[in-house]
Amino acid sequence: MKKNLLIIASVLITTVAIAQSSSQTSKDVKMHQFVNGLLAKMTLEEKLGQLNLPASSDFVTGSVSSSDIAEKVKAGKVGGVFNIRSVTKIKELQQFAVNNTRLHIPLLFGMDVIHGYRTIFPIPLGMSATWDMQLVERSARIAASEASADGIQWTFSPMVDLTRDPRWGRVSEGNGEDAFLSSAIAKAMVHGYQGDDLAAPNTILSCVKHYALYGAAEGGRDYNTTDMSRVRMYNEYFPPYKAAVDAGVASVMVSFNEIDGVPASGNKWLVDDVLRKQWKFGGFVVSDYTGIPEMTNHGMGDFQTVNALSLNAGVDMDMVGEGFLTTLKKSMQEGKVTLAQINKACERILISKYELGLFDDPYRYCNEQRSATEVFTATNRAEARNIAAQSFVLLKNNNVLPIAAGKKIALVGPLANAKENMTGTWSVGADNTMSITLLKGLSDAIGTNGKVVYALGANLEDDVEMQKRQTMFGKDIARDGRTAAQLIQEAISVSADADVIVAALGEGAESSGESASKSNIDMPEAQKRLLKALVATGKPVVLVLFNGRPITLNWENENVPAILDVWFAGSEAGDAIADALLGKVNPSGKLSMSFPQNVGQIPLYYNHKNTGRPLTGKWFSKFQSNYIDVSNEPLYPFGYGLSYTKFEYGDIQLSAKQLKGNQKLTVSVNVKNTGTVAGKEVVQLYIRDEVGTITRPVQELKGFNKVELAAGESKNINFEITPELLKFYNSNLKYDWEAGDFQIMVGPNSRDVKTVKINWSK
Ligand code: BGC
Repeated sequence: MKKNLLIIASVLITTVAIAQSSSQTSKDVKMHQFVNGLLAKMTLEEKLGQLNLPASSDFVTGSVSSSDIAEKVKAGKVGGVFNIRSVTKIKELQQFAVNNTRLHIPLLFGMDVIHGYRTIFPIPLGMSATWDMQLVERSARIAASEASADGIQWTFSPMVDLTRDPRWGRVSEGNGEDAFLSSAIAKAMVHGYQGDDLAAPNTILSCVKHYALYGAAEGGRDYNTTDMSRVRMYNEYFPPYKAAVDAGVASVMVSFNEIDGVPASGNKWLVDDVLRKQWKFGGFVVSDYTGIPEMTNHGMGDFQTVNALSLNAGVDMDMVGEGFLTTLKKSMQEGKVTLAQINKACERILISKYELGLFDDPYRYCNEQRSATEVFTATNRAEARNIAAQSFVLLKNNNVLPIAAGKKIALVGPLANAKENMTGTWSVGADNTMSITLLKGLSDAIGTNGKVVYALGANLEDDVEMQKRQTMFGKDIARDGRTAAQLIQEAISVSADADVIVAALGEGAESSGESASKSNIDMPEAQKRLLKALVATGKPVVLVLFNGRPITLNWENENVPAILDVWFAGSEAGDAIADALLGKVNPSGKLSMSFPQNVGQIPLYYNHKNTGRPLTGKWFSKFQSNYIDVSNEPLYPFGYGLSYTKFEYGDIQLSAKQLKGNQKLTVSVNVKNTGTVAGKEVVQLYIRDEVGTITRPVQELKGFNKVELAAGESKNINFEITPELLKFYNSNLKYDWEAGDFQIMVGPNSRDVKTVKINWSK
């Protein structure tokens, strides 16, 4: 009887599966018929037009039909436009395109929706510090729903460029130094943006970027050369891009940098072989902003040559360069590219438009009603406040935080009341005048139950020019013309009868982001001077650190009793920081990037190799791999972050110590909240593959679990390890695992782990 039921159930499941896959196929057949039918009607010029992606700047303020772009649209020379921040303008331009072009093909509207659209979440580096994939996905979901309500159908996100160099400004836009964590984030973001149905009016195309290795720019200088072994690419830098592809990302943006001597924008091995053939990516590839013509500067040939190179490499869409539009016909006539290649690129873009449902309804994403009611809503802002608070990393706390009720707080520093800076870099859709400052957030939260007094204390930088560079794009922080000494004096007297001083210091919003590399990542001198004076008062000082990258904090760590890293937390920053300072939220973020002691240690990352002469004893040891003047340790390691409570880790329990073949290993550890308040802990699992046919890292993150524990509560946290997790690319780029001894490590960060050993045979 049971057996019969089982058979019936399995028949039913198979029938449903067949029905689903056949409806999928018939949908696909319909789509391909439609797209091929359209292609057959298109002229070569119209096809090249689809590959052209200009920026919006020339008509955002004027009327669409009189703009430069209108002429091009009318002539069928535009496939999409990006960074228009107005549903009305988008609708107008879409109508213009549909009504005035021969084949009525709708435009694709893109934007850099990087960490939220109007409701802004923490910068991606901060989001990654949540280690909470549900929250990450949720932030992308809200971003997609707000952006799509405003006419946007495509975001240039997520950026998953792995990086080990905090001098590089774009670390703020990525997920830090680890491939495993970044891959999980890539997957969550793609799903958050795209949902399960691209044609739904509140989902948008995602674009993973910048493929590839952009984060490995030499010296941390933006756009600089990258050069690395294939083994390193495949094992360390590629996985997050691949994770996005596996998650079904609709588009990929190639990077500015070169790889093996060929810029990504024209690198056939990278795009055609790896991305399309090895990873089976089926969507379209877009260049970065003028990335194609920039290949001329790289020394790859003249304008026509580099455009042909790019199409030949497999790039489908040309962002801003306009060379696909203007040179590919000639290249085709000269036999340098083929019509089949142009058809293919055009087909891929048309398919994306089809999948978005634009051929059914070009105005699907132009709903003024939605724009008016679904953007920057109280609900979205409340979620953003909650998410922001989860991204904060408590770097140090000598019993100063949380600040008890009824206290008098002196809030000091150039970032305490800097509204425009709260959203951080790359917040194109934001209305920065709506951001909540820390002064407002803290004052509102304290109300009459205590007091907040405020002083500026210092300019962001002593040097006017340096300040300007870090506060571009409307992120101004007004300068105070008084001398540094006068500003500090005012701060000291304002703090005179305060119980605690909160110093809101760090970087300006544009100190990180694109083309914002730094050779010195210390706290700016003007602010450090202030901080020293505040600490010298002998009052408890909390450093609330605003930063888009790891910064060097040796003095601060030595001398300031509490440090809370709040990154750039978004439009709701001020409320969220107040929640954390006052203990309404217990900080639970963990670093996704090591904080070095000094820039000379860079690149500094937890999953390094052992070398033939590892430092075995104490620093300094002659003829071992270390420095004379600084230890090998980071100031704060990867995975690090404190809480207002304490967590105690039990010993690691294993389901077996000897495993074979495809068995599964269960790793369990008991984690107990031994403090007096509830808190969340990110329990981290690392492994070390002790012997390999190529050298293996001393540690690799292979699992994490963010768990909430009430005071006194304990939970068993389980991780499962299968051989799949042990795989890596060997010297022949074969992806497999190798038998042998492994260390299994569990802990609250990459440094403070407990370790056991196992053996896994084939
Ligand atoms: C950046 C990309 C961005 C593009 C469009 C480029 O400069 O590198 O990340 O998506 O501009 O704004």
